Amino acid sequence: MDLAASYYPEQWPRERWETDARLMKEAGISFVRMGEFSWSRLEPREGAFDCSWLEEAVQLLGSHGIKSILCTPTPTYPPWLHRKYPDIHQRKSNGQVKEFGQRQDACKNHPGYRRHALRITEKLTRSLGNNPDVVAWQTDNELGCHGTTRCYCDYCERAFQRWLRDRYGNDIKALNRVWGTSFWSQAYASFAEISLPRDTPDREGRAGQNPGLSLAFYRFASDVQVAFQRDLIEIIRRYSPGRIVTHNLMGGYTQIDYFDLSRDLDLVSWTNYPFFELKGRNSPPSSLRHALMRGLKKKNVWVMEQAAGPGGWDTFSPNLEPGLMRLWAYQAIARGTDLVNFFRWRSARFGTEQYWHGILYHHGVPQRRYEELKQLSEEMRTISRELADTVVRSEVALLFDYPSLWSLEIQPHVEKGFGYWEMAERFATVLATLGVQIDVVRAGENLSLYKILMAPSQHICAKQTAESLERFVNAGGALILGPRSGVKDEHNAVVETFLPGRLRGLAGCSVEDYDAFSAIPGFSMQVRDFGGTEYEALGLAEVLVPEANARSILSYTKRYYAGRSAAVEHPYGSGRCLYLGTVLGEEGLEALLRRVLEETGISYPKRLPQALEVASRERDGQRYRFYLNHGTAQVSLAPLRAGTDLLSGQTVSGELRIPGLDLVIVKER
Ligand code: GAL
Repeated sequence: MDLAASYYPEQWPRERWETDARLMKEAGISFVRMGEFSWSRLEPREGAFDCSWLEEAVQLLGSHGIKSILCTPTPTYPPWLHRKYPDIHQRKSNGQVKEFGQRQDACKNHPGYRRHALRITEKLTRSLGNNPDVVAWQTDNELGCHGTTRCYCDYCERAFQRWLRDRYGNDIKALNRVWGTSFWSQAYASFAEISLPRDTPDREGRAGQNPGLSLAFYRFASDVQVAFQRDLIEIIRRYSPGRIVTHNLMGGYTQIDYFDLSRDLDLVSWTNYPFFELKGRNSPPSSLRHALMRGLKKKNVWVMEQAAGPGGWDTFSPNLEPGLMRLWAYQAIARGTDLVNFFRWRSARFGTEQYWHGILYHHGVPQRRYEELKQLSEEMRTISRELADTVVRSEVALLFDYPSLWSLEIQPHVEKGFGYWEMAERFATVLATLGVQIDVVRAGENLSLYKILMAPSQHICAKQTAESLERFVNAGGALILGPRSGVKDEHNAVVETFLPGRLRGLAGCSVEDYDAFSAIPGFSMQVRDFGGTEYEALGLAEVLVPEANARSILSYTKRYYAGRSAAVEHPYGSGRCLYLGTVLGEEGLEALLRRVLEETGISYPKRLPQALEVASRERDGQRYRFYLNHGTAQVSLAPLRAGTDLLSGQTVSGELRIPGLDLVIVKER
């Protein structure tokens, strides 16, 4: 377990560096991340490179025992480059230029940008790549942030046409067929006729266009980021062999297929600002992002930016109450993080992020957040050896599918209640309140490790996906499929058969009719189980007809389909599939998940106090259970198993008392 900080030597006078290095060392910081926004200092004029200041910083920190994680400085480019190439900027779907001044606004398909970005990466990695104090590289910074994955400029249009040519084997007829371009007179005679899905007369980018075109563009835009990163990685590996290569992903950001982006990395790291996700004052920040990031490569991650103070640009988030910075860092550790890098070391005096606060305020004098960091690092010294090589294990997995999410973003069906990310979040949250941890998997991965698999909505369902889900259930797994599954093929066309299309045999039902009830003003829907208990239903309703040996487990209570089936359970092979025709609110989902957990023999702590989060890491059967109290009041409960409190060394049996914004880690017997 290591602690780190994001440091910007170029933003502070040289005389200060020594003090920073000393303070960091005293606070137990063992790594710094540097350089991601420093291009104009590394190449102040075209072709005039100066990496010496960064080398000096690396060396100075190294002399204090602090290792460096360096970044390619590619997200922000120098003013001379924007003057040199007036068309370097990305364009929005309405054609508007994304002007200079923020970051990530250069188009990755602009040949000038690309060439210069690779050149500065080469200069930097050649200069510092073999420095013994440089241990890792971060590619770029938050690729795609500020909505910059999708660019609508002419360079992108040409690159998109090439990408399509490749994808459809240079066969324009094949493209016309799968996109159904006979609709609204869109039959293309050649790839060169295809435009990006820009704004139509009354709709923005994603809407109003052919869904086949829109989804292809989303896939392409994600691939562009992946390919750009691959170019960077190739250079890093050439000139800085043996170093860890990572990228700081954005957790819940969905414009890039993060499974693809992380394939080329040694490990995933990500940026974690829990204050943006809090649902209430006393409840734990979502655990979905942690599970997703860990799931990308099926291994422990680093948090490359962990909230160290209130964040914001023009307005800012509430300050972190004493204890919260430490608690959130522990949440990350509990959920599979091995290095926590705080963003940032010291609050910036200048620039857009003056109010994105660091460990130190602008004045640079250590105060309470610094003391909290010190406490944390002292604790790390005690627990690191214990937690070494521990991992998170789960028997339940969530199938996460970016193309399905994109398709539902292009056509969300309804304005509220039915959203891919929200449904994934609800599965994760309900299970977290039951103390059940999840893995996140991608279609096509080995599913045999799991007893339960949940798919928020397998909206786009390739043949191989349907087959792998069948194998999972056949072998004894319990699959929960969310509504609007199996609706579309990989090209975003609606299937020609009864829904849920390719999943119909597995789901044991067909969709007779569907209804966007949430679009009716003032209307609310409930579903009823066979005991007569009613639960809230959201978004839309698919009216299901059970088939074969399937049975209905929930029915609608209103509209013309009152009494008809809202969910179906289908025994299949040695397992079963549960198909949900509507979105269940938290209570209904909890009831369903409890039943499936019990029937599959997964043990779980039943109900935890609302503010409490329980998660564990393990190694060779030795479990370390984290009890994190996210509320300000003390919480007491019987420990799930007796053991030793890692932080105090005390024996834990009888009652476990956890003060507000604090935690206990039990090394279980
Ligand atoms: C991240 C980003 C950092 C910094 C931070 C606070 O999104 O990677 O560079 O901007 O947020 O805004």
